[in-house]
Amino acid sequence: MKIAIIGTGYVGLTTGVCLADLGHQVVCIDHNPDKVARLKQGISPIFEPGIEDLIKKNLNKNLAFEVEIAPAVKNSEVIFICVNTPPKPNGQADLKYIEKAAREIAQFMNSDYKVIVDKSTVPVRTAEKVKETIMAYATEKTKFDVVSNPEFLREGSAIKDTLNPDRIVIGVDSDQAKEKMLEVYKPLIEKENSIVKIVSVRSAELIKHGANTFLATKISFANLMAETCEAAGADALEVLEAIGLDKRIGHQFLSPGIGFGGSCFPKDIAAYKKTLEILGIDYSFVSAVEEINRRAQENFLHKIEKELWVLDGKQIGILGLAFKPNTDDIRNAPALKIIEKLKNDGAKIKVYDPQAMANVKKLFSDIEYCDNPYLAAQDAEALLICTEWDEFKNLDLAKIKKIMLTPVIFDGRNIFNPQTVRDMGFKYSGIGRP
Ligand code: UDX
Ligand code: UDX
Repeated sequence: MKIAIIGTGYVGLTTGVCLADLGHQVVCIDHNPDKVARLKQGISPIFEPGIEDLIKKNLNKNLAFEVEIAPAVKNSEVIFICVNTPPKPNGQADLKYIEKAAREIAQFMNSDYKVIVDKSTVPVRTAEKVKETIMAYATEKTKFDVVSNPEFLREGSAIKDTLNPDRIVIGVDSDQAKEKMLEVYKPLIEKENSIVKIVSVRSAELIKHGANTFLATKISFANLMAETCEAAGADALEVLEAIGLDKRIGHQFLSPGIGFGGSCFPKDIAAYKKTLEILGIDYSFVSAVEEINRRAQENFLHKIEKELWVLDGKQIGILGLAFKPNTDDIRNAPALKIIEKLKNDGAKIKVYDPQAMANVKKLFSDIEYCDNPYLAAQDAEALLICTEWDEFKNLDLAKIKKIMLTPVIFDGRNIFNPQTVRDMGFKYSGIGRP
């Protein structure tokens, strides 16, 4: 099947590469010529496990990258919109790139029937606007449907999530579009027995915002429990482990830390809140989720201030900059706000991350970037863990203790056993741990 992907970011690139690997003829479009030039050489613009191998495997066979949108639209039966939907200052999703993509698609539509798929995360009723836009700007008489097919891929496991999804959600209002979308996912449905939920377009749009808000709620619940445990002298890991054993609750997304970040949760729950406001529904529940997330970071900083007393001139090592492990993505990464605050208080910062340093270098020129975790810990008066990369779980802590000026660890992701590190002579502070 001939498929076009508009927007070759984390979501578009993963979707395009995976659909090509499933046997479709895919052309990925991006308005950024540098990105396209690198992709044409098989170089991925993002760090995502497995993605470069799949690009190289399919490139110039059934996978192509182009800047020019016209041929892709004319030749494709299904066109996925995967452009970014950043938040406006008031939290509302900014749909200017979606509108631009719809206008561009409209310009090059011909009389062949096409399915336009919203894969970007958008507020409910966006598909209707995309449809109106295409109708308004189409130069030829067109036959098309707009479908909502939200993505649920997590960065770091994006390929696996796309090729082995928990469910495929297809929001359609016509049988013709439904059949086309089932054809797109036929290899997954037949080989992987993937569950397909066919729903209305509006429901599909809400499923995405609903799922992300629920997951963010689970994390904020874990962080609230961590605050409770710290105040009451209990251990949040013991409490949450036992709570999660209830099959109705489960353990996933119940790890307390320094808060959720990334390009999706903060943006999507803010957009959902805006949707609630527009629909006249009280949104204080969602505000509470955001507030607890904000507090998770604030509490971490308070602990550091309390322990180190004066931050001015103190050397602090930070391990982990990405918003989570196995990605180089730093969008809304908690580490960034922590760096900003400590820097403002006069601390000297040394950082290390296995993948995300190049992205952080674009933001901060006045911190030290280290080639390994030990250099970041060297002479430090405190070591902060902000991302739970496996590399940090296996650190030689005896060596770390020797090279630090004062052996103090603030473990924002609970990667160490408090007793073990304390027995080694560290002052240790985790999240929700006694
Ligand atoms: C984006 C959205 O932010 C998210 O809500 C949605 O679920 C999926 O798409 P992501 O893939 O992480 O997420 O965005 P990003 O990495 O910024 O990629 C967007 C790509 O679209 C970029 O490569 C950008 O160059 C491209 N783009 C954007 C276009 O090609 N044309 C445009 O008009 C705008
Ligand atoms: C998320 C959704 O999981 C995915 O389904 C959706 O399509 C896009 O948004 P992603 O942003 O890639 O994916 O990362 P995710 O693994 O969900 O983690 C988000 C944030 O929550 C990270 O900052 C992570 O550190 C944090 N988190 C996650 C916790 O703090 N505790 C947890 O228990 C789980």
